[in-house]
Amino acid sequence: LARGTAATDLAGRHVVISAGGTREPLDPVRYLGNRSSGKQGYALARTAVARGARVTLVEANTGLPDPAGAEVLRVGTAVQLREAMLKAAADADVVVMAAAVADFRPAVYATGKIKKKDGHEPEPVALVRNPDVLAEISADRTRPGQLVVGFAAETDDVLANGREKLRRKGCDLLVVNEVGERKTFGSEENEAVVLAADGGETSVPHGPKEALADTVWDLVAARFG
Ligand code: CTP
Ligand code: CA
Repeated sequence: LARGTAATDLAGRHVVISAGGTREPLDPVRYLGNRSSGKQGYALARTAVARGARVTLVEANTGLPDPAGAEVLRVGTAVQLREAMLKAAADADVVVMAAAVADFRPAVYATGKIKKKDGHEPEPVALVRNPDVLAEISADRTRPGQLVVGFAAETDDVLANGREKLRRKGCDLLVVNEVGERKTFGSEENEAVVLAADGGETSVPHGPKEALADTVWDLVAARFG
């Protein structure tokens, strides 16, 4: 679909999108984080609103202004994001996991600020695994016909790793970005291949994040028929 058309092919659909990057607290003043800007998730929210969907946006640490017409839920950590997404997904026609979810969190949260001690090396930081929200939602499918879309950033063997990740996660579509030196993080533009569980493969040339978002919605709308 051309951008700027008054398409309403998502009218009556509830789409739930996660955006941004989780932060996993170590103590009251420190966290483990990542470089996700949240811009791709926000572009998905804006374009879904424009195409007539009811949009719930679960936002982690983006600092971006709320997209008009979307319901925005704020979370900080992966565990909070999981809880908000599972709740919203119960009533969703489409779930899109655009957020960068931390794979690990500190095993222990120090309730007081961690202090350095003269003459002592720092303690190593022990980590534990976070839940895999995309895999869990893909396995659940609380609502019949629900579509689930994941994202993946890969540096090497982009397509082979993408195919394997699509299978492992059990989602319907996986948007695979090649990341590297000048690519993706914080940028206004993106370039990707969208892999489908049914074998489909759609290349999206370098361009605005809205264009990639619209391609995702085209593929979603085609599956709703
Ligand atoms: N994801 C998730 N929960 C996690 C980690 C990732 O829901 N704990 C989702 C992301 O939102 C994204 C997809 O899974 O949609 C792929 O994330 P990615 O980090 O590429 O995949 P991982 O399975 O974590 O694999 P890797 O070891 O390559 O990081
Ligand atoms: Ca990961």
